[in-house]
Amino acid sequence: MSVIHVHDKQFHPFLSPGQIQDRVASIAAALNKDYESKKPLFIAILNGSFMFAADLFKRLTIETEICFIKLASYKGSRSTGHVITAIGLDNDIIGRDVVIIEDIVDTGKTLHEFLPQLYHQQPSSVRIATLLHKSEATVFPVKVDYLGFDIPDKFVIGYGLDYDGLGRNIPGIYKLAE
Ligand code: IMP
Repeated sequence: MSVIHVHDKQFHPFLSPGQIQDRVASIAAALNKDYESKKPLFIAILNGSFMFAADLFKRLTIETEICFIKLASYKGSRSTGHVITAIGLDNDIIGRDVVIIEDIVDTGKTLHEFLPQLYHQQPSSVRIATLLHKSEATVFPVKVDYLGFDIPDKFVIGYGLDYDGLGRNIPGIYKLAE
């Protein structure tokens, strides 16, 4: 891996495809064990999680389902800020064991706003699998159950993550040059 340029910025190698795949395999092994006798519903949050979700899902040997949702945030009519709606969440959630697949948890705001909506639909359980967690950037605490890498509070791209639309196709993860 070497330095790359995306738009106007320079990025340095951070996590190699091999390192990522090793962690994905470990997470899949834990999920296969923890959900052995269940039929979990995975909910992958688009766009960033598509690559992690695909690699993870391929390694699951349990009986399982997956759906993909997009969280659209818009300014509410009140000054209280953003309202998040889930587009594509058409599976019946009641009584299901749900595992959310995220690419990265940064401030935790997205999940902090989405989780109450999910709980409202009465799942039996909800766990979170995220490839990356900037735990030092946390503003809204989120309990991560399955973690790839805890990373510093730096902007990263690749393996599904973008910088202004570009970089999602890069197989490794790169960090913005200081
Ligand atoms: P949060 O709501 O602050 O936890 O942010 C979650 C979302 O912000 C992720 O799903 C990403 O879309 C985006 N994001 C946060 N950090 C990065 C990054 O370093 N690179 C690319 N996208 C990021």
